[in-house]
Amino acid sequence: MVIARRLPGAGLDLLTDRFEVVPGEPSPDRDDLRLRVEGAAAIVADPTVPVDAELLDSAGASLKIVANFAVGYDNVDVGACRARGIVVTNTPDVLTNATAELAVALMLAAARRIGEGERLLRGGSWTGWDPAELLGRELSGATVGIVGLGRIGLRVAELLRGFETRTLYASRSSKPEAEARLGLQRATLDELVARSDFVTLHAPSTPETRHLVDADLLARFKRGAILVNTSRGPLVDAKALAAALREGHLAAAGLDVFEHEPVVEPELLALDNVVLLPHIGSATSKARDGMARLVAENVIAVLGGEAPLTPV
Ligand code: DGY
Repeated sequence: MVIARRLPGAGLDLLTDRFEVVPGEPSPDRDDLRLRVEGAAAIVADPTVPVDAELLDSAGASLKIVANFAVGYDNVDVGACRARGIVVTNTPDVLTNATAELAVALMLAAARRIGEGERLLRGGSWTGWDPAELLGRELSGATVGIVGLGRIGLRVAELLRGFETRTLYASRSSKPEAEARLGLQRATLDELVARSDFVTLHAPSTPETRHLVDADLLARFKRGAILVNTSRGPLVDAKALAAALREGHLAAAGLDVFEHEPVVEPELLALDNVVLLPHIGSATSKARDGMARLVAENVIAVLGGEAPLTPV
């Protein structure tokens, strides 16, 4: 079996105990990867590794499973896998809390201007406590709109309870249990952006969600709102967002994901009122170990002729 890039020891050890493992590289060359997967029974991929028909064909008929080291699987051509009878798995649940915590961290960082403050201090320009310096906003009591109430969106809603926010959600289906338990209110996307002080995105990247947040939708955001994205970059039109931030229609943004990672839209890099992180939503030891174990358990199950734990 072939690891395209890296798999933490918590999963790697389970695999090397049982299989011949071809290790990966931090930035695998595409042609090299195609050669490495020849004859593999399993490929461990991650969001940076496109798994398309060409790669599947390079692996050939031996390939039984593509185990993605991520909950998102927009890097995998699931249709091409299904057509070849290849199982695709992902890593839900184990990273839910880590990612939800980062979304809340970005809400606070953007609202309290934490990046700006740190740059000021490290740049040596801080002259001491100033009553009017870096005034921000409070999350407590604000209206927060959660776009996509899956596992991570729901966990964000749970974490927000302590902040006593009014929490709206936009979702394809209604979630009566969450509404009753957490006091959430369902809204259309238009209503949600018009009413929310904070909008946080928790939807998958699909052709339908590409540039869901575009210039049109941004114009309908409440003036002074804060946008947070820890899901996938393509959900946001970065140039339109930069324009909304420059014009002051949005107060700030907190972004952990970008459309063409690792490239970040230069117009966003030029702005002070956006907190930018290098896709670290699931980057806690606990979450990454859990993800690695789940990847390995899925591979072991499928190659042992059993049902995968977390198929997509
Ligand atoms: C995911 O799991 O989809 C994250 O983006 C990477 O952990």
